[in-house]
Amino acid sequence: MAEQTDPIKLMKQEVGQKAASLVQSNSIVGLGTGSTTAYAIQFIGDRLKAGEIENIVGIPTSFQAEVLAKEYGIPLTSLDAVERIDIAIDGADEVDPHFNLIKGGGAAHTREKVVDSLAEQFIVVVDSGKLVDKLGSTFLLPVEVIPMAVTPVLRALKALGGQPELRMGVKKAGPVVTDQGNLVIDVKFDDLSNAEDLEKTINNLPGVLENGLFVNVADRVFVGELQDNKPVVRELQKA
Ligand code: A5P
Repeated sequence: MAEQTDPIKLMKQEVGQKAASLVQSNSIVGLGTGSTTAYAIQFIGDRLKAGEIENIVGIPTSFQAEVLAKEYGIPLTSLDAVERIDIAIDGADEVDPHFNLIKGGGAAHTREKVVDSLAEQFIVVVDSGKLVDKLGSTFLLPVEVIPMAVTPVLRALKALGGQPELRMGVKKAGPVVTDQGNLVIDVKFDDLSNAEDLEKTINNLPGVLENGLFVNVADRVFVGELQDNKPVVRELQKA
Protein backbone atom coordinates (compact mmCIF):
# COMPACT_ATOMS: atom_id res chain seq x y z
CA MET A 1 0.00 0.00 0.00
CA ALA A 2 1.42 3.35 -1.03
CA GLU A 3 0.58 5.03 2.27
CA GLN A 4 2.60 2.56 4.35
CA THR A 5 5.74 3.06 2.30
CA ASP A 6 5.59 6.85 2.29
CA PRO A 7 9.16 7.59 3.47
CA ILE A 8 8.23 10.78 5.34
CA LYS A 9 5.54 8.91 7.23
CA LEU A 10 7.99 6.13 8.12
CA MET A 11 10.53 8.65 9.43
CA LYS A 12 7.87 10.39 11.51
CA GLN A 13 6.60 7.12 12.97
CA GLU A 14 10.08 5.98 13.93
CA VAL A 15 11.06 9.22 15.62
CA GLY A 16 7.68 9.48 17.35
CA GLN A 17 8.16 5.99 18.75
CA LYS A 18 11.66 6.84 19.96
CA ALA A 19 10.38 9.90 21.86
CA ALA A 20 7.50 7.92 23.35
CA SER A 21 10.02 5.35 24.63
CA LEU A 22 11.63 8.08 26.77
CA VAL A 23 8.46 8.65 28.80
CA GLN A 24 8.69 7.05 32.24
CA SER A 25 5.99 6.06 34.72
CA ASN A 26 4.65 8.77 37.05
CA SER A 27 5.36 11.57 34.55
CA ILE A 28 3.56 14.70 33.53
CA VAL A 29 3.99 14.89 29.77
CA GLY A 30 3.63 17.90 27.46
CA LEU A 31 1.90 16.69 24.30
CA GLY A 32 2.94 18.63 21.20
CA THR A 33 1.10 19.33 17.98
CA GLY A 34 1.60 18.10 14.42
CA SER A 35 1.86 14.90 12.44
CA THR A 36 5.14 13.70 14.01
CA THR A 37 4.06 14.23 17.61
CA ALA A 38 0.78 12.51 16.75
CA TYR A 39 2.76 9.26 16.45
CA ALA A 40 4.46 9.92 19.80
CA ILE A 41 1.02 10.39 21.42
CA GLN A 42 -0.18 7.16 19.82
CA PHE A 43 2.86 5.21 21.08
CA ILE A 44 2.57 6.66 24.62
CA GLY A 45 -1.05 5.45 24.62
CA ASP A 46 0.09 2.02 23.37
CA ARG A 47 2.67 1.75 26.17
CA LEU A 48 0.06 2.74 28.76
CA LYS A 49 -2.37 0.14 27.43
CA ALA A 50 0.31 -2.54 27.41
CA GLY A 51 1.13 -1.76 31.05
CA GLU A 52 4.73 -0.81 30.20
CA ILE A 53 4.24 2.54 31.93
CA GLU A 54 1.63 3.82 34.38
CA ASN A 55 0.42 7.00 36.03
CA ILE A 56 0.97 9.32 33.06
CA VAL A 57 -0.91 12.58 32.63
CA GLY A 58 -0.66 14.74 29.55
CA ILE A 59 -0.85 18.50 29.04
CA PRO A 60 -2.02 19.10 25.46
CA THR A 61 -0.65 22.00 23.41
CA SER A 62 -3.66 22.16 21.10
CA PHE A 63 -7.13 20.89 20.39
CA GLN A 64 -5.50 18.35 18.04
CA ALA A 65 -3.27 16.99 20.83
CA GLU A 66 -6.25 16.84 23.19
CA VAL A 67 -8.33 14.85 20.71
CA LEU A 68 -5.46 12.41 20.02
CA ALA A 69 -4.70 11.94 23.72
CA LYS A 70 -8.34 11.07 24.36
CA GLU A 71 -8.36 8.70 21.39
CA TYR A 72 -5.27 6.87 22.65
CA GLY A 73 -6.31 6.79 26.32
CA ILE A 74 -3.88 9.29 27.85
CA PRO A 75 -5.45 11.07 30.86
CA LEU A 76 -5.19 14.85 30.63
CA THR A 77 -4.70 17.65 33.10
CA SER A 78 -4.03 21.40 32.94
CA LEU A 79 -1.31 23.76 34.09
CA ASP A 80 -3.56 24.84 36.97
CA ALA A 81 -3.37 21.35 38.43
CA VAL A 82 0.37 20.56 38.23
CA GLU A 83 3.56 22.09 39.53
CA ARG A 84 5.88 20.69 36.90
CA ILE A 85 6.08 19.12 33.46
CA ASP A 86 8.64 16.31 33.35
CA ILE A 87 8.99 15.91 29.62
CA ALA A 88 7.47 17.57 26.55
CA ILE A 89 7.54 16.03 23.09
CA ASP A 90 6.89 18.31 20.16
CA GLY A 91 7.63 18.70 16.47
CA ALA A 92 9.19 21.65 14.68
CA ASP A 93 9.14 23.23 11.24
CA GLU A 94 12.85 24.08 11.23
CA VAL A 95 15.74 23.14 13.53
CA ASP A 96 19.12 24.87 13.32
CA PRO A 97 22.47 23.44 14.52
CA HIS A 98 22.11 25.27 17.87
CA PHE A 99 18.72 23.61 18.51
CA ASN A 100 16.84 26.86 17.84
CA LEU A 101 13.52 26.28 16.16
CA ILE A 102 10.77 27.73 14.05
CA LYS A 103 7.41 26.35 15.08
CA GLY A 104 3.80 27.25 14.36
CA GLY A 105 3.13 25.44 11.09
CA GLY A 106 0.02 24.11 12.82
CA ALA A 107 -0.77 27.52 14.36
CA ALA A 108 -0.23 26.05 17.85
CA HIS A 109 3.06 27.75 18.75
CA THR A 110 1.65 29.91 21.56
CA ARG A 111 0.48 27.03 23.73
CA GLU A 112 3.46 24.96 22.57
CA LYS A 113 5.88 27.59 23.84
CA VAL A 114 4.15 27.70 27.23
CA VAL A 115 4.26 23.93 27.66
CA ASP A 116 7.65 23.22 26.02
CA SER A 117 9.38 26.02 27.99
CA LEU A 118 8.04 24.70 31.29
CA ALA A 119 9.19 21.14 30.67
CA GLU A 120 12.17 19.77 32.54
CA GLN A 121 13.15 18.08 29.27
CA PHE A 122 11.89 19.29 25.90
CA ILE A 123 12.37 16.64 23.22
CA VAL A 124 12.02 17.74 19.59
CA VAL A 125 10.97 15.16 17.01
CA VAL A 126 11.49 15.88 13.31
CA ASP A 127 12.19 14.19 10.03
CA SER A 128 15.47 15.05 8.34
CA GLY A 129 13.80 17.58 6.02
CA LYS A 130 13.42 19.96 8.96
CA LEU A 131 17.15 20.46 9.56
CA VAL A 132 18.49 23.79 8.28
CA ASP A 133 21.78 25.64 8.58
CA LYS A 134 19.94 28.92 9.10
CA LEU A 135 16.46 29.55 10.45
CA GLY A 136 14.08 30.99 7.89
CA SER A 137 15.64 29.08 4.96
CA THR A 138 12.56 27.02 4.20
CA PHE A 139 9.79 28.25 6.48
CA LEU A 140 8.06 31.56 7.18
CA LEU A 141 7.93 32.78 10.78
CA PRO A 142 4.41 32.44 12.28
CA VAL A 143 3.14 35.23 14.54
CA GLU A 144 -0.16 34.90 16.45
CA VAL A 145 -2.05 38.19 16.64
CA ILE A 146 -5.35 39.25 18.18
CA PRO A 147 -7.78 40.01 15.33
CA MET A 148 -8.26 43.75 15.98
CA ALA A 149 -4.49 44.36 15.78
CA VAL A 150 -3.80 42.62 12.46
CA THR A 151 -3.36 45.75 10.34
CA PRO A 152 -0.96 47.63 12.64
CA VAL A 153 1.01 44.44 13.31
CA LEU A 154 1.34 43.77 9.53
CA ARG A 155 2.69 47.32 9.21
CA ALA A 156 5.09 46.90 12.13
CA LEU A 157 6.42 43.59 10.79
CA LYS A 158 7.15 45.29 7.46
CA ALA A 159 9.00 48.03 9.32
CA LEU A 160 11.13 45.30 10.94
CA GLY A 161 12.20 44.19 7.45
CA GLY A 162 9.75 41.32 7.04
CA GLN A 163 7.32 40.42 4.29
CA PRO A 164 4.18 39.45 6.22
CA GLU A 165 1.06 37.71 4.98
CA LEU A 166 -2.10 36.70 6.80
CA ARG A 167 -2.43 32.90 6.88
CA MET A 168 -5.52 31.78 5.00
CA GLY A 169 -7.51 28.61 5.62
CA VAL A 170 -7.49 25.55 3.41
CA LYS A 171 -10.94 24.08 2.77
CA LYS A 172 -12.26 27.01 4.83
CA ALA A 173 -13.03 30.49 3.55
CA GLY A 174 -11.16 33.28 5.30
CA PRO A 175 -8.14 33.29 7.59
CA VAL A 176 -6.89 30.51 9.88
CA VAL A 177 -8.24 30.98 13.40
CA THR A 178 -6.11 29.59 16.23
CA ASP A 179 -7.34 27.51 19.18
CA GLN A 180 -7.40 30.82 21.10
CA GLY A 181 -9.54 32.57 18.48
CA ASN A 182 -6.70 34.66 17.04
CA LEU A 183 -5.10 35.01 13.60
CA VAL A 184 -1.67 34.06 12.26
CA ILE A 185 0.66 36.22 10.20
CA ASP A 186 3.48 34.36 8.41
CA VAL A 187 6.56 36.49 7.87
CA LYS A 188 9.49 36.09 5.48
CA PHE A 189 12.69 37.53 6.94
CA ASP A 190 15.84 37.47 4.81
CA ASP A 191 18.00 37.26 7.91
CA LEU A 192 17.09 35.50 11.14
CA SER A 193 20.61 35.41 12.59
CA ASN A 194 19.32 37.74 15.32
CA ALA A 195 16.62 35.25 16.35
CA GLU A 196 17.01 35.83 20.09
CA ASP A 197 16.44 39.60 19.79
CA LEU A 198 13.81 39.29 17.08
CA GLU A 199 11.77 36.86 19.18
CA LYS A 200 11.50 39.51 21.91
CA THR A 201 11.05 42.46 19.53
CA ILE A 202 8.11 40.82 17.75
CA ASN A 203 6.49 39.76 21.02
CA ASN A 204 6.72 43.38 22.17
CA LEU A 205 4.46 44.62 19.36
CA PRO A 206 1.07 45.47 20.87
CA GLY A 207 -1.46 42.85 19.77
CA VAL A 208 1.09 40.06 19.24
CA LEU A 209 0.54 37.06 21.46
CA GLU A 210 3.54 34.90 20.52
CA ASN A 211 5.83 34.13 17.60
CA GLY A 212 7.26 30.83 16.42
CA LEU A 213 10.94 31.43 17.24
CA PHE A 214 11.96 29.00 20.00
CA VAL A 215 15.42 30.09 21.12
CA ASN A 216 17.23 28.06 23.81
CA VAL A 217 14.17 25.98 24.61
CA ALA A 218 14.94 22.55 23.11
CA ASP A 219 17.02 20.10 25.14
CA ARG A 220 17.29 17.14 22.77
CA VAL A 221 16.51 16.74 19.07
CA PHE A 222 15.72 13.37 17.50
CA VAL A 223 15.75 13.10 13.73
CA GLY A 224 14.02 10.43 11.70
CA GLU A 225 15.82 9.62 8.48
CA LEU A 226 16.09 6.92 5.85
CA GLN A 227 19.19 4.77 5.52
CA ASP A 228 19.09 2.20 2.72
CA ASN A 229 15.37 2.89 2.53
CA LYS A 230 14.92 1.95 6.20
CA PRO A 231 13.77 4.50 8.78
CA VAL A 232 16.32 5.14 11.54
CA VAL A 233 16.52 7.70 14.33
CA ARG A 234 19.58 9.66 15.28
CA GLU A 235 20.06 12.14 18.08
CA LEU A 236 21.34 15.46 16.80
CA GLN A 237 24.44 16.81 18.49
CA LYS A 238 24.31 20.52 19.35
CA ALA A 239 26.83 22.71 17.49
C1 A5P B 1 2.46 23.31 15.31
O1 A5P B 1 2.08 24.61 15.43
C2 A5P B 1 3.90 23.23 14.91
O2 A5P B 1 4.74 23.92 15.78
C3 A5P B 1 4.28 21.77 14.77
O3 A5P B 1 4.93 21.30 15.91
C4 A5P B 1 5.08 21.65 13.56
O4 A5P B 1 4.35 22.23 12.50
C5 A5P B 1 5.49 20.23 13.22
O5 A5P B 1 4.49 19.52 12.58
P1 A5P B 1 4.78 18.21 11.74
O6 A5P B 1 5.34 17.21 12.70
O7 A5P B 1 3.43 17.83 11.21
O8 A5P B 1 5.72 18.57 10.66
